[in-house]
Amino acid sequence: MEEGELEKYWDFVALEAKDFEKMLRVEKWRKVARNWLADYADKRACDFVLKVIDDVIKLDKSAKILDVGCGPGKWSILFAKKFSSTTAIDVSPKMILLARENAKKHNLGNVEFHVMDVSKLNFPDETYDLVNCITVLQHVFNDDDWRSAVYEMVRVTKTGGHILLFETAPDLAIIRRTRHLAIRTMRKYIDEFRMAGAHFVYWRAVDLSLPVTFFGLKTYSASFNKKVYYFMSKSILFSASFLSFLSLVASVLAELIDYRLAETPLSFLSAGRIFLFKKGKA
Ligand SMILES: C[S@@+](CC[C@H](N)C(=O)[O-])C[C@H]1O[C@@H](n2cnc3c(N)ncnc32)[C@H](O)[C@@H]1O
Repeated sequence: MEEGELEKYWDFVALEAKDFEKMLRVEKWRKVARNWLADYADKRACDFVLKVIDDVIKLDKSAKILDVGCGPGKWSILFAKKFSSTTAIDVSPKMILLARENAKKHNLGNVEFHVMDVSKLNFPDETYDLVNCITVLQHVFNDDDWRSAVYEMVRVTKTGGHILLFETAPDLAIIRRTRHLAIRTMRKYIDEFRMAGAHFVYWRAVDLSLPVTFFGLKTYSASFNKKVYYFMSKSILFSASFLSFLSLVASVLAELIDYRLAETPLSFLSAGRIFLFKKGKA
């Protein structure tokens, strides 16, 4: 991508997130199928990430958190409620505006937001107890920038501190690029973090229910595409309430599958994974 292209792209997504998400998702999705699946996907991500933080990392309330690629601030706000100090960055100025607006609604005084590229973090070494990075590195297409991002995240983490990622990182990447994703294998993530000075501690599967939720989540993941919205919201074959019912069934089944199988050997089937790295030697 050319200079400035990345910010422009994510700014555009932020605008859509603000205007179209609000207008279409809230007003129309409330009535149609994807709503169940979108809510389910959000809940699953929160449950799984918090489980890693509470059960595996076991952070103190005094921990210093950095949320990388914070988007509209969902995770930063959650962290600010749980821990004493949260800093959040995003390459898109519009995402940062949105995040500040959202944090204001929650009356939080312990979270700060900065426009910044993860590949060039403007923070001192060894600053954070936890660097959180949820579905960000999979959007960094340039391999050199991706590598710098890994090094930068490790650099600003305290020795003994953690880096938590949630990315599309299958064992085998047959498709390496989609329009929105740069798919790198789990091995590639583990090797790069090791070279940067952080060892791999733990991983869990996220989306084992993919076949069940595929249709809904596929459209959800493309939710910034207006055409998909309009196509879905003008479904001729099925009524909104029938789709909604089907989607409720799918989200109940998805929950059963995801929550039960995530830590079994079948977890290798999941392309979406949460990884945990610890800075320092194993
Ligand atoms: C899919 S969104 C995820 C947002 C948030 N982490 C969440 O889970 O809700 C990806 C975010 O990463 C940000 N991003 C993409 N490339 C980035 C970069 N090089 N540096 C910092 N942020 C970046 C985008 O602006 C966008 O807000």
